[in-house]
Amino acid sequence: MARTKSEREGEKSGVIILGINAYHGNASAAMVCDGRLVAAVEEERFNRVKYAAGFPAAAIRYCLAEAGVGIEDVDHVAIPRNPWARIGTKLLYAMRMPKFARERAKVIAKFTGIPEALREALGVEAAKIRAKFHRIEHHQAHLASTFYVSPFEQAAVLSADGLGDFASTMWATGQGRRMQVHGAIAFPHSLGMYYTALTQYLGFWKFGDEYKVMGLAAYGEPTQIEEFRRIVKSGNGKGFRLGLEYFTHHRDGPDMTWHESDKTPVLGRLFADYLTERLGPMRGVDEPVEQKHRDIAATMQARLEEVLFEMLRGLHARTKQKAVCLAGGVAFNCVANGKIFRETPFEQVYVQPAAGDAGLAVGAAFYVEHQVLGRPRKFVMEHAYWGPGFSEEQIRAAVRNSRLAEQGYRVRELAEEEAARVAAQHVADGKILGWFQGRAEWGPRALGNRSIVADARRAEMKQILNERIKHREPFRPFAPSVLEEATGEYFEMSQPSPFMTQAYPVRPEKRDVIPAPTHVDGTGRLQTVSQRANPKYWRLIREFANRTGVPVVLNTSFNDNEPIVCRPEEAIDCFLRTKMDVLAMGNVVVEKPSGD
Ligand SMILES: [Fe+2]
Repeated sequence: MARTKSEREGEKSGVIILGINAYHGNASAAMVCDGRLVAAVEEERFNRVKYAAGFPAAAIRYCLAEAGVGIEDVDHVAIPRNPWARIGTKLLYAMRMPKFARERAKVIAKFTGIPEALREALGVEAAKIRAKFHRIEHHQAHLASTFYVSPFEQAAVLSADGLGDFASTMWATGQGRRMQVHGAIAFPHSLGMYYTALTQYLGFWKFGDEYKVMGLAAYGEPTQIEEFRRIVKSGNGKGFRLGLEYFTHHRDGPDMTWHESDKTPVLGRLFADYLTERLGPMRGVDEPVEQKHRDIAATMQARLEEVLFEMLRGLHARTKQKAVCLAGGVAFNCVANGKIFRETPFEQVYVQPAAGDAGLAVGAAFYVEHQVLGRPRKFVMEHAYWGPGFSEEQIRAAVRNSRLAEQGYRVRELAEEEAARVAAQHVADGKILGWFQGRAEWGPRALGNRSIVADARRAEMKQILNERIKHREPFRPFAPSVLEEATGEYFEMSQPSPFMTQAYPVRPEKRDVIPAPTHVDGTGRLQTVSQRANPKYWRLIREFANRTGVPVVLNTSFNDNEPIVCRPEEAIDCFLRTKMDVLAMGNVVVEKPSGD
């Protein structure tokens, strides 16, 4: 078969591809060198604004530095947005909604300016950037972000989220270096919009609050499922449709902007008055959470699961694949993901850690690598550690500069094994440990490199963490990290879940053994930790198990209502601010003065 010009280009060795997710929530950058991911990081880790949108200048600078290349070495820049996708439908809406047309015009202007923004961010002459720019449709980038880094040679692939390039959902079959798209669901029908609209109705208005409502759902009963089957209607094997009378976004446009000052994404109200006529008044932000709110959260989650499993069963019937790869914001619904094995014929599930829009940077880059350049696959994302790392010397300097020893803290540098033993003993003694190791995690979950670790056996730990450190709503669960080899001993399923993207039932006889990270419905959003993927974190949990007989610790992200800490200085600041007991950074162990 004749090769395309792109494929001939792809045959050169050492192709360097930069993926950029810009002007969208979760701005991020990723670098793929010769078919392998080298770095991937969200801009929020640098500018310290949660879910930061805008142009990911610092993330790009980091990716170049990590790869040890300059922008002049980059062959391709992949951008996960294509303003021309579904242009007919977009124009139709633009004619009906002037505000929408203005927003689109602004977006298109911003995207056209990406080469210029890149030049400015790096402070280089235009001539220095010789890369070819590619625009990859939003959902195709989502599909690529999961399939191309999955361990599967072939799989069904599903992307489901709010809205991107005017679609909310897309499905495909992936085979080797190619994906074939079978179908998509266009605006205004969107599971993500549905979930966000109901999240707003329940009084949670911040960008990214959906996971709070998912946690709340476990406390309620799905009492209004018939009503919710009108809010999201089944589509007779063709996906789903929204009952548009409950929503506003099809009339007013999806009102997604971001504060220019701090780049925080902002989403306008998505539900119509008809929803409050049917379900009763919405919950005000400061009003108490009552049983009716819990029941609505439970119903909303139950209906999401029904629709998602219908789609997955349809996708299985069409593709006959054993494995499925998921991406898009809906793929963060770990409660639904955990039930896929039971509710659909799929036997294997893969979700990469940045399933949401940050992941688009990785997806767009791998789309260019395989689908455009036709290069063979040689990479599997087996761990999430693609962000900045710091040397022992940098850690020592940060500790020295913060004058911890002078303030009465005990500061020691230990051999690696000894540091793990000391840290594990503290956790077993009920102390709260800040655990900062290696390269930062890609995606929103701390997975043992920027984590706060506590004793899973102590039921009171949840409240202690909430009071002292995390200040979260009491209904939100904490997650367990379990040694991979002990997964089946503690959970009813033993398939690996290395990125905390699945919730499994904790075995009934183990629920009292690890009460702190067991949710009220008896499940845990677990991280399975293998020695191969994270030897240091594996060792910490192993040492904890040696002392307690329990190979499970509670793991929550190293932060306090801010993006997860990235640099040692931020870790020290968070450690002091939140009064944690122990901080282990690299081989340096810092212990709070006794009696304080
Ligand atoms: Fe998306």
